[in-house]
Amino acid sequence: MAVVGLGTMGAGIAEVFARAGIGVVALEIDPEALSRGVGILDASLSRAVSRGRLTAGQQAEIRSRVRPAAGFSEAAAVDLAIEVVPERMAIKRQIFAELDRVCSPDAILATNTSSLSVTAIAAASKHPGRVIGMHFFNPAPVMRLVEVVSTVLTNDGVPDIAADLARRLGKTPVQVSDRAGFVANALLLPYLNHALHLLSTRYASRADIDLAATAGIGLPMGPLALLDLIGLDTALSIMEVLHGEFGLPRYSPTPLLRRLTDAGRTGRKAGRGIYDYADSALADKNNNNQDGNVLASAAPDTVTLIGAGDTVETDLATAMAAAGINVTRNAAHPTDLILIAAEAGRPVLPSSLAAGRPEQAVGLHLAGTVAPGTLAEVVQTSLSSTETVLAGAALAVKLGFVPVRAPDRPGFLAGTLLYPHLADAVRMCQDGYADPAAIDTAMTLGCGYPRGPFELIDAAGAAAVLTGLEAMHEAYGYPEFAPPPLLAEHAAAGIAFSAGSRSAR
Ligand code: CAA
Repeated sequence: MAVVGLGTMGAGIAEVFARAGIGVVALEIDPEALSRGVGILDASLSRAVSRGRLTAGQQAEIRSRVRPAAGFSEAAAVDLAIEVVPERMAIKRQIFAELDRVCSPDAILATNTSSLSVTAIAAASKHPGRVIGMHFFNPAPVMRLVEVVSTVLTNDGVPDIAADLARRLGKTPVQVSDRAGFVANALLLPYLNHALHLLSTRYASRADIDLAATAGIGLPMGPLALLDLIGLDTALSIMEVLHGEFGLPRYSPTPLLRRLTDAGRTGRKAGRGIYDYADSALADKNNNNQDGNVLASAAPDTVTLIGAGDTVETDLATAMAAAGINVTRNAAHPTDLILIAAEAGRPVLPSSLAAGRPEQAVGLHLAGTVAPGTLAEVVQTSLSSTETVLAGAALAVKLGFVPVRAPDRPGFLAGTLLYPHLADAVRMCQDGYADPAAIDTAMTLGCGYPRGPFELIDAAGAAAVLTGLEAMHEAYGYPEFAPPPLLAEHAAAGIAFSAGSRSAR
C-alpha cells in the first residue's frame, strides 16, 4: 500500500499499516517533508521501544516495511493508496490524478479527509467507483476507529474491502455515507468549538473548562487540550465545512478559533495554541498562571449549609464535619460561608437571596457522589464576592473534590458542555444518519470516550438531559439548545437508547 503525505496523520497511518505486517510506500514529493515525516514515524516507534511496548528487533522489522519515496511512480504496484495531504480540494484532486495515472485500475484509492466531500474527490477521479474515505483518528496508532466513507459512486464491495482491511489493522470500522464531518467530527467539533466559545466569552477559565470535561464527564482530554492536539487550523476547516453543509449557528466557527489560526497559534504542532508547548518553563508558567492554585488551607472554619434535604446535603454535612468544619443549617447564624447544595437545572441565586447574605453565598454542584475526586462546580451568582468563590473552591479542595468555577447559569459548566453535545448525537440519530450503537462506537473508539453519548444519556436518564437542555434553551433561546423530539419521546416513554431496553427513569 502507499501513504501519500507524511504529516502527523500520514506518518501515523504508515506506522499502523507497517505494524500490521503490510509493506508501505511512504510518499512525499518534497524531500524535506519526506525526512520530517520519516522522523515522526521513527520518534513514535522509539517511544514505543522506550515504553517497553516494542523490542528493538520489532522496531527494525516495522521500519524495514516502510519505503520512503519521493515520486508517484513508486506507488505503481500498490493495491491501496491512502491520501493524507492538507485539506484543500485542489491538492487532493491533483494527488488523485497522479494516482489514477500510476496505479492499476483495480487498486483502491482512499482519502483520509476529515472534512472535504469524498464524493467531490471521487467525481474528479477517472475511476470514481474505487474511491473511498478511510478516516483515521489522531493519534492514528492509538485510536481504534476508522470511518469507512462510501459515496453514491462507490462500487459494491469496496466498502467491505476497506472495512476488512481496517480490522486487519486492529481497528474497528464504522461504515457511513458521505456527509460533512461523518459521525465523529460532526459531533466532536461543534462541542470543541462551543468550549472555545465559553473560554472567549469568559464563561469559565481554560483549566476549568478542560477539568469539567475530564473530571466531570470522564473524557480522556479536555476540549481545549484536544483542539490543540487536532490543530486549530484543522478544527477551523472542519467547522467551516459543517457550517457550509448544515448552516446552523452551532456550526459557525467561534471567532477566537479563526483568530488563533490566523495568528499561527495552531496547537501542539506549532508549539502554541490555546496552551503553550514550545518551551517547557514558559509552558508551565503560561499554562497554569491564569488558573491559580486553590489551597485547602484557605477553606472556611464555619459554614452554613443550605440544601434540598436530600442525601447530597446530608453527605456534604457529614464530609464537612469529618474535615473539622463547623456546619450549621441556620442561615441567620453568622458563618464564614453560605454553601448552597446546588441542583442541576435550578439557579442558586434565589436560595442565596433567601439566606440574607448573598455576597457570602456560593453554590456547590457535584458531578457525582460526595466522594474524593468528584468534580465540584463552585457556582458563582451575580452577588457572590470573589473571596466567597475562593473560599468555596478551597472548601471543595479540603473535601477532596476537584473544583471548577461556574456561573449561575443552566448547566453550570459540565452540563453546558455536555447537554448540547448529547443533543447533537440524538439529532444525528433522529436524522437517520447513524444509529446509537454506531455513534457510541465512533465516539468511544475514535475519541477515547469511556462511554458513548447514548450510554451517557441512558446513565443520566433521558429526562434529566431533557430538563438540562430545556433550561438552557429557555435561558438563551439558541436553536441548538432546543431538545430534539426523539430525546423528549425517550424521556416521556422511559425508553433507554442502548439495546432498546426500558429505563426506569
Ligand atoms: N503516537 C503514538 N502513540 C501515542 C501517541 C502518539 N502521538 N500519544 C500517545 N500514544 C500512546 C502512548 O504510547 C501510550 O501507549 P502505551 O500505553 O502502549 O504506552 C498510550 O497512547 C497512552 O498514552 P499516554 O499514557 O501518554 O497518554 P494518555 O493516557 O493521556 O492518552 C491519548 C493519550 C490516547 C491521546 C488520550 O488522551 C485520548 O484518547 N485522547 C483523545 C484523543 C482524541 O479524541 N482523538 C481524536 C481527535 S479527532 C480526530 O483525530 C479526527 C479529525 O479528523 C480531526
